[in-house]
Amino acid sequence: MKRTVLVSGGAGYIGSHVSVELSQAGYDVIIADDMSNCDDTNYKGVCRITGKEIPFYRMDFCDMDAVSRLFASEKIDAVIHFAAFKAVGESVAEPLKYYRNNLCSFMNILQASRDAGGCNVLFSSSATVYGQASRLPVTEESPRLPATSPYGNTKQICEDMLRDSVAAYKGIKGISLRYFNPIGAHPSALIGELPRGVPNNLVPYITQTAIGKREVLSIFGNDYPTPDGTCLRDYIDIVDLAKAHVCTVSRMLGSGMEDDYEIFNIGTGRPVSVLELVKGFERVNGLKLNYRFAPRRPGDVTAIWADPSKAERAMGWKAERSLDETLASAWAWEKHLAANK
Ligand code: UFG
Repeated sequence: MKRTVLVSGGAGYIGSHVSVELSQAGYDVIIADDMSNCDDTNYKGVCRITGKEIPFYRMDFCDMDAVSRLFASEKIDAVIHFAAFKAVGESVAEPLKYYRNNLCSFMNILQASRDAGGCNVLFSSSATVYGQASRLPVTEESPRLPATSPYGNTKQICEDMLRDSVAAYKGIKGISLRYFNPIGAHPSALIGELPRGVPNNLVPYITQTAIGKREVLSIFGNDYPTPDGTCLRDYIDIVDLAKAHVCTVSRMLGSGMEDDYEIFNIGTGRPVSVLELVKGFERVNGLKLNYRFAPRRPGDVTAIWADPSKAERAMGWKAERSLDETLASAWAWEKHLAANK
């Protein structure tokens, strides 16, 4: 039986890769996006890679009428929610913008799922909910620490909204995936990360420096208590991460869930320092990056990486692409963008 998955924010970086993997796994995919933070590059890329005209709705998930109409007109078996703002610094400067958008949109999805008599809901959460954990790697049982930004707070609140809705409303099942640091691009180089303005995240900043769009990469802090003094993160390949969603949707649609609400870490289990990542990028792609050490960035944790073993035990998912392949794909994507300007 064909199953339909609605991907909110499906024209964005993670949503587009997830849409490709779902479609290639045989699901009917519907993409809905308000296009407030992207153009149609990734949507077109999804259609090209899959060879399908993926149904697309331009809509704002904060508009309950629009969400209700969508749920009434399509038979949706599962919904994956990506449509949210994600810039940590901006969320500190404009908290209400973040609370309004990130919470209302998800509330509307849960309401529509309830009104439809139930649905399977996958929420895109983040390792940010762990803050600076005292024990590493973090498991799903590690405590969530108070969020250090409104953005992080919306991730925690949305997790709780999903947990509570699953407990209260019959027919809703939910899974939160806590992503570590997604990087890289599809091997076709037809979809990837498209930051607007100056990138906040490390890998787009690296690739834009390499291509000459940015003059110099600042490495924020080299005096952390880590082997080389720079922060440690768990960089997860975007295609591996996208595949985790296929496993998760299949788990929700099957009968294997241990609980109607579950949480999984989606990472590699391998800590990599900022400096290692920069040097790896140089080595793999045969180039030199202009970088300098700069003061620490406020709000950064020193180190965080996943224990991803629960996802492997429960769903048979684990990260497979090597860091070298991922860093090569990030560079191929940046070059593709430059060639197709
Ligand atoms: N970094 C630099 N220079 C830059 C950008 C980043 O040195 O120009 C460093 C940061 O200081 C940090 C590391 O690179 O040590 C990774 O930073 P990112 O901004 O790429 O990623 P974060 O770990 O800060 O945040 C990411 C996502 C968040 C998510 C968080 C969860 O962007 O949405 O992971 O841990 F909440």
